[in-house]
Amino acid sequence: MWPLSSHEDLKGKVAIVTGASRGIGAACAYALARRGANVAIVDLLPADDIRGKIETDFPEVQTLGYEIDIRNKGQVVQAVQATAEQWGHIDILVNNAGTCSRLSLEAMTEEDWDRDISTNLKGSFFFTQAVVFPYMKEQGYGKIINISSISGMIGGVVSSVQGGDSGRSGPAYAASKGGVNAFTKWVAKEVGKYGIYCNAIAPGSVVTELTRNMNYPVDNQPIQRMGEPEDIAEAVVYLASPASNYVSGQVLKVCGGLAIG
Ligand SMILES: NC(=O)c1ccc[n+]([C@@H]2O[C@H](COP(=O)([O-])OP(=O)(O)OC[C@H]3O[C@@H](n4cnc5c(N)ncnc54)[C@H](O)[C@@H]3O)[C@@H](O)[C@H]2O)c1
Repeated sequence: MWPLSSHEDLKGKVAIVTGASRGIGAACAYALARRGANVAIVDLLPADDIRGKIETDFPEVQTLGYEIDIRNKGQVVQAVQATAEQWGHIDILVNNAGTCSRLSLEAMTEEDWDRDISTNLKGSFFFTQAVVFPYMKEQGYGKIINISSISGMIGGVVSSVQGGDSGRSGPAYAASKGGVNAFTKWVAKEVGKYGIYCNAIAPGSVVTELTRNMNYPVDNQPIQRMGEPEDIAEAVVYLASPASNYVSGQVLKVCGGLAIG
């Protein structure tokens, strides 16, 4: 039920990665496939590019693609069921899809608030519930990794629009990611008895579409560069693999030392 930690081999494993058509999610899908996992890509956007790249570079690996909205429970359940029907089991879930509004408290509308909260928090709940019951619970094994953010730990990360004012990732984003961290810990306590692990990764600033045209004061960090999606993906591989078989309920900061302690 609770095997010892070993190496990062994912051959024959099945992973679902949300928000994986681009950015951090695409890097996670690629890194998991490199270790031998079959990967289902979930996104609002088409997944042809990343699926083609994976299947060209790793011909022994298969991919699936679901163009769905993770805020829609019916679509989430269908995607999970179809993946289990195709490959027989689900071993890894990476809840990565996310949105980030940088509006001030004053300017934020109810719609802006709902978008970040329901994508980042409710979407993770839908997917977690759908993979655990029945699949991971029945097989007595699973690794769930939630992509959170340093914003959820320190109340927003400061950035500036190129040539413009500085600001912070907004209140809904910080609240949603703080919620993701709490949800991660709650789920870890619930599912450990089934042999399932649940952890989160809190990235600092990472070069993706989400941060395009934004400047981050990385000179103040011990590691004085922005993160690349691969920096996050390699941490995901660790938490998705038997290398982390004594780690659960943790929020791993992968942020170049932006937040220490
Ligand atoms: N880039 C950063 O600096 C940074 C820092 C900390 C945390 N994060 C987190 O990392 C994750 C990935 O972000 P990224 O930087 O790669 O951004 P990104 O915008 O490049 O990728 C996000 C992906 O999620 C998809 N998505 C958004 N809403 C969706 C929905 N409702 N249903 C299905 N798919 C949806 C998008 O289509 C997109 O492909 C997010 O959770 C984000 O909050 C990013």
